[in-house]
Amino acid sequence: MRTDYCGELTEHHLDREVQLAGWANSYRDHGGVIFIDLRDRSGIVQLVCDPAESPEAHRIAERVRDEYVLLARGRVRLRGEGLENPRLKTGKIEVVVDQLIIENESAPLPFTIGDEQVGEEIRLKYRYLDLRTKKAFDTFALRSKAALAARRFLDGEGFLEVETPMLTRSTPEGARDYLVPSRLYPGHFYALPQSPQLFKQLLMVAGFDRYFQITRCFRDEDLRADRQPEFTQIDVEMSFATQDEVMEVAERLIEAIFKEAGIEVERPIPRMSYREAMERYGSDKPDLRYGLELVDVIDIFQDTELKVFREIAQFKRLNRIKALPVPGGSKLTRKEIDSLTEFVTQFGAKGLAWVKVKEGGELQGPIVKFLSQEEQTALIERTGVGPGDLIFFGAGPKGVVLDYMGRLRQEIASMMGLIDEERYAFVWIVDFPMFEIEEGSVKIKALHHPFTMPKNIDTEDIEEMVSEAYDIVLNGVELGGGSIRIHKESIQRRIFEILGIGEEEAQEKFGFLLDALRFGAPPHGGFALGFDRVVMLLTKRDNIRDVIAFPKTQRAQCLLTNAPSPVDPQQLKELHLRLREPKRV
Ligand code: AMO
Ligand code: AMP
Repeated sequence: MRTDYCGELTEHHLDREVQLAGWANSYRDHGGVIFIDLRDRSGIVQLVCDPAESPEAHRIAERVRDEYVLLARGRVRLRGEGLENPRLKTGKIEVVVDQLIIENESAPLPFTIGDEQVGEEIRLKYRYLDLRTKKAFDTFALRSKAALAARRFLDGEGFLEVETPMLTRSTPEGARDYLVPSRLYPGHFYALPQSPQLFKQLLMVAGFDRYFQITRCFRDEDLRADRQPEFTQIDVEMSFATQDEVMEVAERLIEAIFKEAGIEVERPIPRMSYREAMERYGSDKPDLRYGLELVDVIDIFQDTELKVFREIAQFKRLNRIKALPVPGGSKLTRKEIDSLTEFVTQFGAKGLAWVKVKEGGELQGPIVKFLSQEEQTALIERTGVGPGDLIFFGAGPKGVVLDYMGRLRQEIASMMGLIDEERYAFVWIVDFPMFEIEEGSVKIKALHHPFTMPKNIDTEDIEEMVSEAYDIVLNGVELGGGSIRIHKESIQRRIFEILGIGEEEAQEKFGFLLDALRFGAPPHGGFALGFDRVVMLLTKRDNIRDVIAFPKTQRAQCLLTNAPSPVDPQQLKELHLRLREPKRV
């Protein structure tokens, strides 16, 4: 139906006869001559319907309204002197129409296409209209190219794309499962996979050696700006490979994908241990586009007169006193400091002490009167501050302090405009602890997942057990992660034991994996990249919904189809389900 895309016409097409197809982006009647901006996925071109050129086309043009679907035939010509539109790529030319067909009409739109002020709810309800913008199209074009680049790269490296089941058993990635009731087995359920983790390990036992899949994963968890209930992973696994070898493949894969967007990734990507990341940045996904590092000062307050700090400083293993020196921070106003105090209080801070460094180099602030001269000197030396700077202090239990000081870092960086938006700061986080204590309980959890190989299985102190796991972080976002897996049944059983997964439970839940490990499982490991997050960062979006064609809301709803929805009682009956009481959402 067309010879060209609207947005691709230029002066090179002068006098060419073209056939175009698209939507009426806008129309203007200029006393006899009608101008229509015709839009397709490539952009916009101006159509001119002049009764002197084609009375028929002009007559039809009079009926055109916003978003009508048009087929137009005409000739490309230069716009007159002074009539050029520098905001349009096609702004130097226009198409004089000799034939116009209204292929379809459009009802009045619920919102103006491309208007970013419109509420997200209405845009998601009419997602197909929201996607009509060039910006959206370009995002998905890049997403498509990035996926192809990944496939090309992995294929070139000898990886085999293998599909794994969607209707399966629960996999322990740590979120809640989405369940699917079985019709044939009353009271039994499939789970949608949280990842292909166990299947890709089984493919290694099968001897496939190198596997990948670009696949959907499902996790019923609290949603955030970078989390969706269903999302896509580029999932990779390889046999007979060391941690360094797996990480190298991941780096080159990332390099290939980013190249597609014209972004060069510097390799090798630097590495940082989990502990270092936590102590210096208060996060296991530090944003390294700016400095603002946390400095340990607990020892300086060992004998201080400041009672809270002295008490906290007596327990160096459990507690932290962290200084956050802020270059130029003296210019923060009292109000700004108060708002930062309020900010950290939400995350469990009991206060946020601060000192400013005055012109002469002496310290000033409410806590200074409690600090001895030695303490002040030590602080200045340790933090490297000078006149005009400011230091914030967080003191309290380690986990809480690291968490809120990490967030404070971020908050100050955006408040003071310290983030270099042009930078792509990649970092590998390595040497994760194997285990963590679940918040508010005494239950031990695998920090990565329970199939991760420990580096030091024989250590007495399981707090000291470190795993062969690695996360790739970009600009403060966890892009992906992976590990070397346990390939020996005895180690796997030991880990289950530590996790309090009994013999019977292990057999019941992961019997098939334990069995497989008995039949000559090779050493293996892999990783998964969160593909939506990759595209989100490539396109500099700050919400993952922008890079998913049909996303769900923060409350896990699809506003377009109204899923989830009630079902026919007959369906429930077939599935052997009876609702306790039909709840209205
Ligand atoms: P993990 O659970 O770390 O590892 O997931 C890998 C990556 O997937 C992305 N991701 C998400 N993206 C959007 N919405 C979500 N709800 C979501 N959850 C995770 C993140 C994350 O880094 N099987 C292991 C991988 C392995 O060990 O090989 C796994 O799934 O970017
Ligand atoms: P106070 O002695 O409670 O008035 O506190 C003196 C200063 O120390 C105030 O600026 C408080 O915000 C700060 N402060 C109190 N407790 C803590 C803490 N646990 N961590 C950091 N600063 C604190």
